Amino acid sequence: MSFDFLTDKDRIFTNVYGYQPWNLKAAEARGDWDKTKDLIAWGQDKIIDEMKASGLRGRGGAGFPTGMKWSFMPKESKDGRPSFLVINADESEPGSCKDREILRHDPHKLIEGALIAGFAMRARAAYIYVRGEYIREAQVLQAAVDEAYEAGLIGKNAAKSGYDFDVFVHRGAGAYICGEETAMIESLEGKKGQPRLKPPFPAGAGLYGCPTTVNNVESIAVVPTILRRGASWFASFGRENNKGTKLFQISGHVDKPCVVEEAMSIPFRDLIEKHCGGIRGGWDNLLAVIPGGSSVPLVPAAQIMDAPMDFDGLKEVGSGLGTAAVIVMDKSTDIVQAISRLSYFYKHESCGQCTPCREGTGWMWRVMERMRTGDADISEIDTLYEVTKQVEGHTICALGDAAAWPIQGLIKHFRPEMERRIVEKQGGGLMEAAE
Ligand SMILES: Cc1cc2nc3c(=O)[nH]c(=O)nc-3n(C[C@H](O)[C@H](O)[C@H](O)COP(=O)(O)O)c2cc1C
Ligand code: SF4
Repeated sequence: MSFDFLTDKDRIFTNVYGYQPWNLKAAEARGDWDKTKDLIAWGQDKIIDEMKASGLRGRGGAGFPTGMKWSFMPKESKDGRPSFLVINADESEPGSCKDREILRHDPHKLIEGALIAGFAMRARAAYIYVRGEYIREAQVLQAAVDEAYEAGLIGKNAAKSGYDFDVFVHRGAGAYICGEETAMIESLEGKKGQPRLKPPFPAGAGLYGCPTTVNNVESIAVVPTILRRGASWFASFGRENNKGTKLFQISGHVDKPCVVEEAMSIPFRDLIEKHCGGIRGGWDNLLAVIPGGSSVPLVPAAQIMDAPMDFDGLKEVGSGLGTAAVIVMDKSTDIVQAISRLSYFYKHESCGQCTPCREGTGWMWRVMERMRTGDADISEIDTLYEVTKQVEGHTICALGDAAAWPIQGLIKHFRPEMERRIVEKQGGGLMEAAE
């Protein structure tokens, strides 16, 4: 069965490549800020119901249903505390590079989305937390926010809706951990970006102790189009439980790496053939793919070829959609080195609060380095696996899991390669003896 590729008429991000200006005039010509007041007039409940019906699941990695998340916010403030929306533009996951395209080429989609989402969850303001290295992106976003204030689209009586709503752009200092929602909240408060223990969840006590929802840039930027075109339009793409269109970011050994909006559930092979010019050296040259950003386990070539690129399809092959940052590796890749490099990243980015992560990430990286050079004992592969299992699920935030999963994927699928290096280093005798 052939796949129905997304056509231009159904693309939400029509300026993702920046062929047109990002500014308000151009954004309005693309349909942004069109009768925003009327959408707000629907009222909070209808907007949330429509978002639930659209099937949108968070685009920041975990895939939590967006409408449901908003519904956890209090309907009224019993003690005078305001509510806040925090928009996660930290985008530091290796392989992930979609939110920056929205920030620099389509910022008004995000700002309009912030107003509507903020209204729906009764938030007083939105804080957009931008990755420190995104200097130009933050400049464009701030300029777009200034334009929106000037045009009366945000601020007092935003877009003449009768609702007051502020948008603040906040620049991070370049730490991956600040992408974790509670670390982001700490950082916004001016503290060191370290995740909080949950509960309390942000919807109860988040930014400055007030009810808060944290959403990814893409999750918020798609909201105005979903409401304008209708939940059923958005839900007409993708498989059950995996609805909508999605920005995929394909890097690595393809002929044309790119960021592209496609329908969810597109088979991997179709995504690569249609948008990336195929695998470098042909399909027989494909070794493995990390389909959702560096935190998810790799999938060997044979298993990923026909997999639907969605939450459930990638779960079935032992991995995940994550942020849909697809890292393609051909047979020239030193796969043990590639995973060891990721281990170094997680060691470097661990905030150090919990022992299994602080000690475990360093330990795992050091052993991975010995696995890379073959200076290890074969029995250490099992020990390494056991340690990943001790880190996974035993930490305050999911960085511990993110450090463990790539190594687990390597051991699961490339154990013979790890053993080969060790045997070779030892003079090559063991393998023959074992056979
Ligand atoms: C270590 C770590 C880093 C994260 N980095 C990001 C990030 O850069 N951007 C993002 O949107 N979510 C990131 N997340 C997920 C957020 O905690 C949160 O789930 C997400 O922003 C929720 O948005 P969504 O519901 O719209 O997906 C990260 C999570 C962890 C554990
Ligand atoms: S898991 Fe790691 S990054 Fe997350 S809170 Fe614990 S030490 Fe910090």
